[in-house]
This record gives sequence, C-alpha cells and structure tokens, in this order.
Amino acid sequence: MRQSAIDMSSELSGEELAGLRALLKLAGLSGPHLEIGTAAGGTLKELMLCYSPPRPRFVVVDPFKYFPDQKRIVETNLRSAGIDPAEVDLREAFSGDALAAAHAAGERYDFIFIDANHEARHVIRDLRWAQLLSPGRYLCLHDYQPNFPGVVWAVDRFLDRNRHYRRSAQHGALVVIEKLADSGGDKVGAADFLLGDLLSQSHRLRRSVRKRFGRLKA
Ligand SMILES: C[S@@+](CC[C@H](N)C(=O)[O-])C[C@H]1O[C@@H](n2cnc3c(N)ncnc32)[C@H](O)[C@@H]1O
Repeated sequence: MRQSAIDMSSELSGEELAGLRALLKLAGLSGPHLEIGTAAGGTLKELMLCYSPPRPRFVVVDPFKYFPDQKRIVETNLRSAGIDPAEVDLREAFSGDALAAAHAAGERYDFIFIDANHEARHVIRDLRWAQLLSPGRYLCLHDYQPNFPGVVWAVDRFLDRNRHYRRSAQHGALVVIEKLADSGGDKVGAADFLLGDLLSQSHRLRRSVRKRFGRLKA
C-alpha cells in the first residue's frame, strides 16, 4: 500500500509544496487547473486550498487503479479539508484517452501538473497536454531527478524542441515551466515517441540489472 493511501498525504515534499503554493499565490490564475495523476489527492487538496471559494475549476485525470478504492479515498480526502468533491471534475481515464477528449472539447488550462506514470514513453506523451495551456501560464512536473530518468529526459527534450516555453523555477524535484507563447503548436511527435519507447526499455533493463546485481551482492 502506498503511504499516500494510508495517510492521504501529498507525495510532494514540504519544499515542493511550498514552491507550488507560492507560484499559485503569485500567479493570480483564474482559468481551469489540471492534475494528471493524483494518488490520494493530497497535492490536489493543497492546490485547491490555495484559493478561497469560488475556486478556479479543477480537473483530475487518473485511471484510479493506483491502490484499492482510490477514487473514494480522494473524495474522502477532499471532504476532510472542507472541499466538496463535486467541485472537482474527476476523470477516470488514462492521460492519452482524456487528452483526445479534452482537445476535441477545445479545453484550455491556466495550470497543468503532470505527475502520472514516470516512464519516458509516458511523460513525453503527457507533455502533449501543454498544447492546451494558455500563454503566460504554468506547467509543473514532479520527480525531475536522477531516480526518474524518464522524467528528466522528457522535460529536457520538450524544452529543447519548444523554445516558446521556459523553465522558470525548480523546488526540490518539482520543475516549473512557463509557456511564453502559443507559437503555432508544440513539437511533440512520432520521433519523440519512438525515442521515449526505446529509452523506457533501456531504463527498465538498467533497473532490473541493478536489482539483480544488488541481490547478488547482499
Ligand atoms: C506519483 S502518483 C501521483 C501523486 C500525486 N500527484 C501527489 O502529488 O500526491 C501517480 C498517479 O498517476 C496515476 N497514473 C498512472 N498512469 C497514468 C496515466 N497513464 N494517466 C493518468 N494517470 C496515471 C496513478 O494512478 C497515480 O494515481
């Protein structure tokens, strides 16, 4: 069982949460906020509490299979903070499927937090959500650190290929990216997906070799 499922806490550190709170307080965002991957809703709750009602619209995308009874635990967590779960659009879906629907509906966001599957092949695809971010608004990703090479690779590649975004801050392993302009579409395509797929395989292989080697040494 994940710790967040037991105590309904955020999976972010104190430093990362403080960075997020400071960003939201300073940025004065009023458009929709999106979290992709919510666990027990610990960070969602903290984000929502940055605003007094009426809050911006909050959307969550998650297949809710991270631990048993995940969706109900998220709702209980929100209630425990005095937030009506009906205030949140909880979409039970994988990120890719939800993106297609959001795109077709013409959705736009002021804030996007990507914290779902951390493999390179997933993170690079999740970054396609940035096309729905309004200019001058913010995208954050968690676990930008060496233990999650997929996140590091995808963020660096995305920023390298999309100069209309800039890294504006980092708090612990939380990276904050600002969208500077719409600039005729983001570059995230077939070559990125192929590279992400190959890298995911190589990261998986490296992890399993390390695990076995560790076991042999023990
Ligand atoms: C690291 S946890 C999220 C932690 C949470 N953001 C927090 O700060 O407490 C990862 C979450 O991503 C979700 N997830 C995994 N794959 C996903 C996908 N393809 N699309 C959307 N969510 C996904 C899992 O169900 C889980 O809830």
